[in-house]
Amino acid sequence: MGRLVICDHPLIQHKVTIIRDKETNTKQFRELVDEVAMLMAYELTRDLPLEEVTVQTPVADAKGFMIAGRTMGLVPILRAGLGMVDGVLQILPSAKVGHIGLYRDHETLQPVEYYISLPTDVAERELIVIDPMLATGGSANAAIEMLKKRGCRPTKLMCLIAAPEGVRAVQEKHPDVDIYLAALDEKLNEHGYIVPGLGDAGDRLYGTD
Ligand code: PRP
Ligand code: URA
Repeated sequence: MGRLVICDHPLIQHKVTIIRDKETNTKQFRELVDEVAMLMAYELTRDLPLEEVTVQTPVADAKGFMIAGRTMGLVPILRAGLGMVDGVLQILPSAKVGHIGLYRDHETLQPVEYYISLPTDVAERELIVIDPMLATGGSANAAIEMLKKRGCRPTKLMCLIAAPEGVRAVQEKHPDVDIYLAALDEKLNEHGYIVPGLGDAGDRLYGTD
């Protein structure tokens, strides 16, 4: 079973609360999603391997540690996943970025695929799938499936807010993927929206409805 990590640092909780507020406008919403993604990236990179190195300070040799060069890739699910990419890239500037286009059919709640574009060396990279919302889990599962079918290694799923139903669905289908959240909410409503959630993440990021 993959790990479920709730990134509940006070700064993240503070910002997620403002993100949820329906009075928060598009500009603030976008900025805050970006900031939370950057803060969550600290937790996501906690297990990066280190190697011991020696540098010379002006005074003496100093032993220290540096990242041992694991290659990472980010795969946002369009559209809403795009809103978190720049924040993560601030912490992982050399990560390459692929894109998966999926939307949820409003009637059936099933994900519909419309796009995939991946960096050429993607199979050598450890991939983080990014989407602010994990509701039924259908979109995340479909994206992870699309990557695995192409011989890729998605190891982490990063979301802002999840419903327990979505977490269970991903854990059952992809027990090799760790899930990182800023908040785990109560439930889904009859329309497949997370309660209390934040509404439609794509619409709030891009000012559509
Ligand atoms: C939202 C969200 C996820 C999906 C989650 O995307 O960004 O991709 O719904 O729901 P699920 O877990 O039940 O699949 P949406 O379909 O609204 O597309 P958009 O990002 O283009 O707005
Ligand atoms: N997609 C969203 O954007 N919000 C939800 O609550 C569920 C799916």
